Amino acid sequence: MDRGGLVVELGPGAGGTTRAILDALPPDGRLLSIELNPHLHRLVEAIPDRRLIAHRGSACELPAVLAAHGFAAADAVVSGIPFSTMPRAVGARTAAAIAECLAADGRFVAYQASARVAELCSPHLGTPRVDTELLNFPPMRVFRWERTGG
Ligand SMILES: C[S@@+](CC[C@H](N)C(=O)[O-])C[C@H]1O[C@@H](n2cnc3c(N)ncnc32)[C@H](O)[C@@H]1O
Repeated sequence: MDRGGLVVELGPGAGGTTRAILDALPPDGRLLSIELNPHLHRLVEAIPDRRLIAHRGSACELPAVLAAHGFAAADAVVSGIPFSTMPRAVGARTAAAIAECLAADGRFVAYQASARVAELCSPHLGTPRVDTELLNFPPMRVFRWERTGG
């Protein structure tokens, strides 16, 4: 992203990915992280960066969370939440929530061990590009969707 905009991170965990996103974010960009686990949420909340908004809650509440923080849409959504192990209904709701909130030219990137995320999101977003990150242990698949609606 080379201009101010909103990146949403679903499941920031201990904040390793959060810090990497902040390193790449322009000075006028914003990063909204949504973490379910209260302990991990507190770790992310402690990252000292005025561009970061740490929210504790579930990714499937994304439309309400965006609205609560005054945003209409996300320019990019990055997700590490485990679509393959969460209840199927929650995964399906989360996929629909991401599609509802992604800007017309937005991107959704999910790093996952399983392809369940593609099964859940493709009905909303189409076929993803899939790459494998071999430098991660265990190797991770990276699923990317890019909207081109302008
Ligand atoms: C694989 S970890 C992310 C690791 C992270 N990238 C890091 O650098 O530490 C997945 C995270 O997703 C969170 N999570 C799982 N389901 C979630 C949901 N429905 N909404 C928000 N967070 C969720 C978990 O609590 C966990 O912290």
